[in-house]
Amino acid sequence: MKGIILSGGHGTRLRPLTHTGPKQLIPIANKPVIEYAIEDLRDAGITEIGIILGTNMPNKIKDALGDGSKLGVNLTYIMQGEPKGLAHAAATAKDFVGKESFVMYLGDNILKSGIEEFVSEFDESDFSARILLQPVEDPRQFGVAELNDNDEVINLVEKPEHPKSNLALVGIYLFKNNIFDAISKIKPSWRGELEITDAIQQLIDEDLNVDSFVVEGWWKDTGKPEDVLDANQLILETLTTKIDGIIEENVKIKGKVQIGKNTIVKSGSVIKGPAIIGQNCEIKGYVGPYTSIGDETKLIESEIDSSIVIGNSIIRSDKRITESLLGQNSKILSDENTYPKGRSFVIGENSVIKL
Ligand code: DAU
Repeated sequence: MKGIILSGGHGTRLRPLTHTGPKQLIPIANKPVIEYAIEDLRDAGITEIGIILGTNMPNKIKDALGDGSKLGVNLTYIMQGEPKGLAHAAATAKDFVGKESFVMYLGDNILKSGIEEFVSEFDESDFSARILLQPVEDPRQFGVAELNDNDEVINLVEKPEHPKSNLALVGIYLFKNNIFDAISKIKPSWRGELEITDAIQQLIDEDLNVDSFVVEGWWKDTGKPEDVLDANQLILETLTTKIDGIIEENVKIKGKVQIGKNTIVKSGSVIKGPAIIGQNCEIKGYVGPYTSIGDETKLIESEIDSSIVIGNSIIRSDKRITESLLGQNSKILSDENTYPKGRSFVIGENSVIKL
């Protein structure tokens, strides 16, 4: 069995962070979100993985992941180009997949339980596809499945205005090779994309068997800033303590906390986990629960919680930073002692500042 991970798309809902890189590289607990997908595939025994690349700085993904050997997998890069839909992206991997069955994993999805239990026995089964589902509050933002009384999938619709159920399609799909045939028969949707949802519906219309699983543990699609922060919280809940940095005297550390090499936590600071701090940071102040701080960051006499600081940042703030997402090289500097007084910003498109 092979794996493909979709890493294209424009990531518009995550601007300005996606102005400088693809959304699949945004770190969750200091690890790019796409690495969770790679690890899930690897842990399910799938090591031949195709990474489907889009037009938003695809080389950054290649630079970050290389040939995959660091993660114990073998990566092949496949260019999709413009995001013409999930089914279009899948079709670009046809030669890579060859005659095998495969898992298609959306590179911005993250799943607590991994995928091992869903992958087992699929190859030998007579199912053409297996989909994963989870009940959600607002199914209109997802692909939605309708099941009959025997729990068989009878209908799938992409982002319906009037959903027939609350069962959203999780962005992880298992396919046999005949999905390529189904993809070749579908037409672009109202949003101009070749939808994988329509390709699976095509299988159902041809009376081919489509299996479904309802996923028990949490699942997150990290397409929006609030989802990225939620995913960060959920991953940090599973953190184990590991302190490699230097902790000065009179520092309080509570809960599960990881601190990377060469990071100094200055005297008087309080770190309340779950929280992760990368390498080469200097921390003086308060780091509260559900915070991930990337490498080379300075926190100066400041407080932060429930946030992600991607890295290379300086924070010296007179107010606590909370529920925030700070891109690489961001600076937040309060300085009461200089003139002119006032707040000064250099912010990108779609930035949000709550004062
Ligand atoms: O997250 C689950 C949902 O993912 C499903 O419920 C929907 O049925 C499915 O269509 C998809 O919806 P999204 O609107 O969230 O898809 P999005 O456009 O965000 O793309 C998902 C991933 O695939 C993302 O990592 C970008 C990548 N992608 C997307 C497109 C359209 C590609 O690589 N190529 C593409 O052409």
